[in-house]
Amino acid sequence: MNYKSLINTSKLPSHIAIIMDGNGRWAKEHNKPRIFGHKNGVLSVRSVVEGAGEIGLKYLTLYAFSTENWNRPKVEITALMQLLVVTISKEVTTLNKNNVRLLTIGDLKSLPSNCKKELEKAKTKTKNNTGLNLVLALSYSSKAEIVNAVKAIAKGVSEEKIALDEIDDNLINEHLETALIQDPELLIRTSGEHRISNFLLWQIAYSELYFTDKLWPDFTKDDLFEAIVNYQKRERRFGMTSEQLSIS
Ligand code: FPP
Repeated sequence: MNYKSLINTSKLPSHIAIIMDGNGRWAKEHNKPRIFGHKNGVLSVRSVVEGAGEIGLKYLTLYAFSTENWNRPKVEITALMQLLVVTISKEVTTLNKNNVRLLTIGDLKSLPSNCKKELEKAKTKTKNNTGLNLVLALSYSSKAEIVNAVKAIAKGVSEEKIALDEIDDNLINEHLETALIQDPELLIRTSGEHRISNFLLWQIAYSELYFTDKLWPDFTKDDLFEAIVNYQKRERRFGMTSEQLSIS
């Protein structure tokens, strides 16, 4: 099926977030070590970023490493970090060629220093690009992000820089790492799991959720297009009734 041709370009989401899941199971199915799954997962990242660029998406956020992922076997963590360093350094020229700006959310401080360095270099090199914003969530925890926002706001209140009445949705948004990024309209999770796993909890309040059984290394840009077509068939009501929506 050619899903790309079915996309209504006037109703495109501006931000899609993806929980890339199933690399380990994909490797197991192929009788290979887990890192083989992650390596093939990079090919899916490439395909999906390409697809996002083709349709003119503004933001794509990928959950590449959660704070909980630090509990994995040390060999897997080391291999994943190495894969990240190699991939970023290899792909930065292509990102620039395609006008992609690289951004990150998460606790970068906790990453190995070569990984931090490579990411900072790539972010600087791509900072003036105006096409797709590719946001990598690395060592990311949504709860930690919210805790940090609460702390910063509480500090502002205690120093009398913020009045209690000023605390609202917008103020909280402004204190999140995603302050400058519109909330995702669509959240995709692969591999048949139906969980959010501490990802963008505040930001997905009204996102449409799309789950597919495909394991991440089998997911390509065509699957991204299929998810967008599915999203476009849904009615987003934001708590209103269908009748109210048809009037406005
Ligand atoms: C989930 O599969 C995948 C991850 C935790 C890592 C995702 C990383 C990549 C796709 C490669 C590097 C990314 C970039 C952006 C260059 P899993 O290991 O949890 O799979 P399982 O649930 O089957 O064990």
